[in-house]
Amino acid sequence: MQIFDELKNYAKANKVPIIRDESADFLLEIARKSNAKNILEIGTAIGYSGTLLLNACPNANLTTIEINEQSYKKAIKTFEETGISEKVKAILGDAKDVLIQLVEEKKQFDFIFMDGPKGQYVNYLSDCKKLLKHGGVIFADNVFLHGLVNSNQPIKHKHRAMVTKMRKFLEVIQNDAELEVTIFNIEDGIAVLKKK
Ligand SMILES: C[S@@+](CC[C@H](N)C(=O)[O-])C[C@H]1O[C@@H](n2cnc3c(N)ncnc32)[C@H](O)[C@@H]1O
Repeated sequence: MQIFDELKNYAKANKVPIIRDESADFLLEIARKSNAKNILEIGTAIGYSGTLLLNACPNANLTTIEINEQSYKKAIKTFEETGISEKVKAILGDAKDVLIQLVEEKKQFDFIFMDGPKGQYVNYLSDCKKLLKHGGVIFADNVFLHGLVNSNQPIKHKHRAMVTKMRKFLEVIQNDAELEVTIFNIEDGIAVLKKK
């Protein structure tokens, strides 16, 4: 679809990170396979992956969280232009707070796309598990952090906290008896977590 090319061009021109092509194909494959109906996305950016997801899962609705107002506004436009606004609840805010609020509201999702701040995945996990139905799936992108996560080399100070937290996330999920976890060596690394 032309809109996806436009969004990719906009993302490139404005340095907005969006999901890469192979990872996007895999995201849609997993979302379709899990028969996603209620999707939560952390990190809307400009609405690229959200629109892809609803295009691939036409019976689904999407709740998506973004902290950056400019991106949020662009995403709202994307959802309007693609005619999916009625199926999208776009929330402007810090995912940390919004997740707590969604848990308080007892919301349930069957598919969660974790794509917000990489150092926060480990902190979001507990709320995401509460928000996920049994049999539901969390799809976490960029878990290799451009090779830094598996590197034996000293990590630069500016990346250290994020790398430490991502390593913790990977350790925690792989030791969580409630989750079935597979790490895929696709582009920047993808963790797929199924809640038993
Ligand atoms: C990798 S981008 C998301 C890309 C999008 N999912 C896509 O593929 O089209 C990550 C997004 O998370 C947002 N973000 C960063 N920190 C956040 C936070 N604390 N709460 C919510 N969103 C956040 C960023 O502004 C950015 O737009």
